[in-house]
Amino acid sequence: MKKDYHLDHVFYRNLKKFYPTADRGEGIYIYDTNGKQYIDGSGGAAVVGIGHGVKEITEAMVRQAEKISFSHGSHFTSQAAIDLATQLVTLSPSGLTQVYFLSGGSEGVETAIKMARQYQVERGKPQKYKVISRWTSYHGNTLGALALSGHTGRRRNYLPLIQHTPHIVPAYCYRCPFKLLPEKCDLECASDLEKTILYEGPDSVSAFIAEPIVGATAGALVPKDGYFPKIREICDRYDVLLISDEVMTGIGRTGKNFGVDHWNIVPDMIVAAKGLSSGYAPIFAVIVKEEIHQTIQEGSGAFVHGHTYSQNPLSCAIAHAVIDYLLKNDLVSKSAKMGEYLIRNLQSLNKHDFVGEVRGKGLFAGIEFVKDKKTKEPFDPKLRLNALIANRAFEKGLITYPGGGGADGINGDHLLLAPPFIITEEQIEKMVSILDETLIEISREISY
Ligand SMILES: Cc1ncc(COP(=O)(O)O)c(C=O)c1O
Repeated sequence: MKKDYHLDHVFYRNLKKFYPTADRGEGIYIYDTNGKQYIDGSGGAAVVGIGHGVKEITEAMVRQAEKISFSHGSHFTSQAAIDLATQLVTLSPSGLTQVYFLSGGSEGVETAIKMARQYQVERGKPQKYKVISRWTSYHGNTLGALALSGHTGRRRNYLPLIQHTPHIVPAYCYRCPFKLLPEKCDLECASDLEKTILYEGPDSVSAFIAEPIVGATAGALVPKDGYFPKIREICDRYDVLLISDEVMTGIGRTGKNFGVDHWNIVPDMIVAAKGLSSGYAPIFAVIVKEEIHQTIQEGSGAFVHGHTYSQNPLSCAIAHAVIDYLLKNDLVSKSAKMGEYLIRNLQSLNKHDFVGEVRGKGLFAGIEFVKDKKTKEPFDPKLRLNALIANRAFEKGLITYPGGGGADGINGDHLLLAPPFIITEEQIEKMVSILDETLIEISREISY
């Protein structure tokens, strides 16, 4: 009999929800222990790029485990870490030459901001410590990363515990913070960084962090083409490091290795995680400019940081095998090509009265829902529309990644779609038809 919640000893995310038990994965599908098939339409949370159950990866896993699974980063390096770092540097914009490995996104974002801080101290600018980020953003749930995240709902309960850090407006064309139409836009949202740096005092600002394409908090928000080049210029003008949070967008998710590659800019650091191992192992990489590494090397010589699973050999070997697979099968181009097909097909959902916008790049797509297409008024968050839609699609065998609060931190509903890069046209059509069916049903059930 179906229970409303679990009676076992796991502390679940949602304690009032019953989760089916995942049994196995194959390609774009996950199967539960009742044999039900789900299309992994969001790759979990924009994690799975190469697909589930790839034999080459499990073989690489076993090969490394048979040699050694763990050695501590304070005692040894490993061939797996060396090989993976070389591979990542090759795929990164030129000038980024060193890689620091960790095991998760939030931990990695914290590492990047600490590394920025130590760099500033070591180069004789100890007054530079502030990190500016944006509203409608997500950088993680640990206290430091949550401080940078611009999502009111996720921050609210923990506000007394987190440091106040400056946030600028998002690059959100559909809901332009300056109420401008695209043809009148002069990238005021990028200029907001300059204003904030000046208000805070350029001498106090260490870094600016942003997702090249916003994922969890807004559903694939793509900025205008000039946005990141202008951000790069502003950072250069005020001697501020630019950190690109590519936890969701790297590697290949948006149809390029990294999100910033769409605009040919070179950040000072890239932080990458989910697609890096496609979910086969917990791993995170902070990929940094030569100068940052050199400054610390020639200064104190030690980054005052570290975690037990930094440079974990097993995770590194797995991520190396995943990237090999990605390259051998040309999956980054596939993400670009199939992404166009996905977004083109999703546009058909615009016929629904409550679909406000379909957007995205590569296989990183979002649908924003609105109560009124003309005014863009969001739904009452009490309705939990995004969860209603995601739960119904899940019942129908399609996994999506729902989110809320995009419009102003509290209001706004969207779905993020990020299927594995191996998805076919027929499978995309199936995804879209399940979504269509779901939206028809939900629109009949809610009164608005
Ligand atoms: C852009 C971004 N940064 C950081 C994180 C935090 O990663 P983790 O959940 O592995 O801590 C996420 C997670 O979704 C993310 O999307």
